[in-house]
Amino acid sequence: MQKSIDQIYHEALKDIEGADTLESVEAHSITYLGRKGLVTQFLRSVATLPADERPLAGKRANEVKQALDAAVLAATKRCELAAEKADEGIDVTLPGRTVKQGTLHPLTRVTLEICDIFTHLGFQIVEGPEIETDYYNFEALNIPKNHPARDMQDTFYISENTVLRTHTSPTQPRVMEKQDPPVRIIAPGKVYRCDSDLTHTPMFHQVEGLLVDEHISFGDLKGILTTFIHKIFDEETSLRFRPSFFPFTEPSAEVDIRCVICRGKGCRVCSQTGWLEVLGAGMVHPAVFENIGYDTQKYTGFAFGMGVERITMLKYGVDDIRKYFENDLRFLRQF
Ligand code: FA5
Repeated sequence: MQKSIDQIYHEALKDIEGADTLESVEAHSITYLGRKGLVTQFLRSVATLPADERPLAGKRANEVKQALDAAVLAATKRCELAAEKADEGIDVTLPGRTVKQGTLHPLTRVTLEICDIFTHLGFQIVEGPEIETDYYNFEALNIPKNHPARDMQDTFYISENTVLRTHTSPTQPRVMEKQDPPVRIIAPGKVYRCDSDLTHTPMFHQVEGLLVDEHISFGDLKGILTTFIHKIFDEETSLRFRPSFFPFTEPSAEVDIRCVICRGKGCRVCSQTGWLEVLGAGMVHPAVFENIGYDTQKYTGFAFGMGVERITMLKYGVDDIRKYFENDLRFLRQF
């Protein structure tokens, strides 16, 4: 029995004296002297020894405990001193370690710029849910179930009546339901379509715009969008309105801008046409107002929806939409 406590003692002393951090001294102290430590267990077992062995074994175990307590104290002091010395050893003449600074993602930067331009024009920023009901994404926007117009947007269905929103347009009925005219909002956010190639991704960003009041005309829509395009690109950028179709606007238009790369001469980016499509727009369809309960004799309004990836590609000359989502720092650091 005595040999056994001496064995524990020698191993413990070697560990404690060899420890070079406060954490390892503490760990060894627990292993040997803690509540379930080896020395403590030995002390408890003394009571089970034959009566004649108990006094000697108990005495030796107490000596070992005291010696190890002292060794732990000494090792703690030694490690504290070493840590203090290491702190003093900082060479303040060395150059500091620079913290790498991040930048805003180009899509965030352009979304903020778009929001800034429209808030200066008096628009309020609102947000809608990305998981949307069939009603707001389609029906309230004059796209009934089984209508062929639903084929225009390849939809991710979550259940029969729940979808990942295919555009930011559902924010239109959501806002109008809660608010009487005048309404003047933009709604930025993520949208989802089963769509993927050089210029299309399954998740992308749109900014919706909606203005409703008395006497709003197509001229107001043209004025606001022309101001916006001049601010986001430059005053030289001309735009044109092409007739188009959206079930929730009438008349509807697709807005093209003069190619910002070739200035209209024709290049690869604009497929030699000199023009680039940037957004869809139109006058709010009376059927949408009727769904909400707005007086169609009194109020008119316009709406538009633009792709943020598209605007950003044209602003910075990015030729592949997928680059935005690859998280390649060599690409992202350029903005
Ligand atoms: C719409 O989504 C309509 N909600 C826009 C609208 C709003 C019209 C209000 C009238 C009134 P469209 O499907 O054309 O329209 O999409 C608008 C823009 O989103 C496109 O011009 C394009 O820039 C962008 N876009 C469409 N699909 C993708 C995609 N898969 N990846 C990236 N951008 C896309």
